[in-house]
Amino acid sequence: MDKFIINGGTKLSGKVKIDGAKNASLALMPATLLTNGKSILRNTPRLRDVNTMISLLEFFGVETTFTDHTLTLDTSNIKSQNAPYEHVKKMRASVYVLGPLLAKYGRAKVSLPGGCAWGPRPINLHIEGLKKLGAEIELEEGYIIAKAKKLVGAEINFEKSSVGATGNILMAATLAKGTTIINNAAKEPEINNLAQFLNKMGARISGINTSKLIIEGVNELSPATIDTIPDRIEAGTLLIAGAITKGKIELQNCNFEHINILINKLKESGCKLFVNNDLITLDASNIDINPIDISTAVYPGFPTDMQAQWIALMSVAKGVANVTDNIYLDRFNHVPELLRLGASIKMIENTAIITGIKKLKGAKVMSTDLRASASLVLAGLVADGTTEVLRVYHLDRGYQLIDEKLKMLGADIKRVEGTEY
Ligand code: EPU
Repeated sequence: MDKFIINGGTKLSGKVKIDGAKNASLALMPATLLTNGKSILRNTPRLRDVNTMISLLEFFGVETTFTDHTLTLDTSNIKSQNAPYEHVKKMRASVYVLGPLLAKYGRAKVSLPGGCAWGPRPINLHIEGLKKLGAEIELEEGYIIAKAKKLVGAEINFEKSSVGATGNILMAATLAKGTTIINNAAKEPEINNLAQFLNKMGARISGINTSKLIIEGVNELSPATIDTIPDRIEAGTLLIAGAITKGKIELQNCNFEHINILINKLKESGCKLFVNNDLITLDASNIDINPIDISTAVYPGFPTDMQAQWIALMSVAKGVANVTDNIYLDRFNHVPELLRLGASIKMIENTAIITGIKKLKGAKVMSTDLRASASLVLAGLVADGTTEVLRVYHLDRGYQLIDEKLKMLGADIKRVEGTEY
């Protein structure tokens, strides 16, 4: 397993380009199962989770080519509708194949995703939603077995806003008979990207960008081409890298509207930020980081996927900040590792109380999940001495070569392949 060796203390400076959004790609790719033929997904990031989804789709019979950042998926010869445990256990987002397979082929057998590094991540809303559309669903030997001759539109009221359940039901409803209404739908930009892709295929979805999606079912969908939106979490992580090192950086190929809340919080913390079309610049030279509280919420609130990185920033702020995660109450695996770097953090239920300190100190730390690992890298960039971040395959799941991007910004970071774990 690879590790990163980071010598902290360099102020980042320079420009870097943001790649396509992981969580958009992971929804766009299975959506092609609703069609027969070649769809083209531009601006697809080259990262481990995308490769995992490619392997799963290839297992069904999808033919893929991935050139630069253009992913072509040919769904003309689907041979299987079974998603085995070996594929699904690697990535929970594999459950996205359930809705499209069921809608298009009338059956799907998908392994239950199982546990997650930071606690329970149920899929009851996906299953209840599909049942509302008329699917018969049974759980057998760790598998979801779903059948439906023809799905039928219905009104679905999600008790909680869920990105994955909204995506799954949205895909399934495109081919259902009649109209489906999803109330309390997720409004995350990745879901809008998916809805736009489905409409390009011939679906009839309205209410995009709102929490009420209305889908009029159609008989068939055709392959289409879509541009994947920029990754707002990659952009946010790199902005914090600029802020924590008191650097000056420019990010290209961003959509600042998708991270408005983060931009505002960074401004409150003392950084100067400017946006211009797809560029975001951050200047944190000579500032003291103000302690700023955040509470995660569904879009457009502060994203849970930026909570760990914000804690890293607050651990060197001038004062005390409270960070609460309301989406995933247990998503705090980074906290004990940040303590090893000298951070002062106390947990009270789902709130981290962080007392900023002047200097973190380098140490060996362990990646446990994607965003937790990102926060350790950020802390390492500013810690005195050397930080080793072990098991960076978690980072590789969701960031395209983050070490290379940080190097381009001047960070002293080195990947050591296949050593310690
Ligand atoms: N929930 C349920 N039942 C369900 C589904 C969700 O109770 O059937 C709950 C969850 O436990 C959670 C909340 O609803 O408390 C929201 O979960 P959601 O379904 O929105 O999450 P997800 O679709 O599984 C996606 C992202 C995550 C991101 C969350 C929240 C993808 C592939 N994953 O997960 O991304 O944290 O939305 O924004 O889109 C990451 O990139 O690091 C990551 C984990």
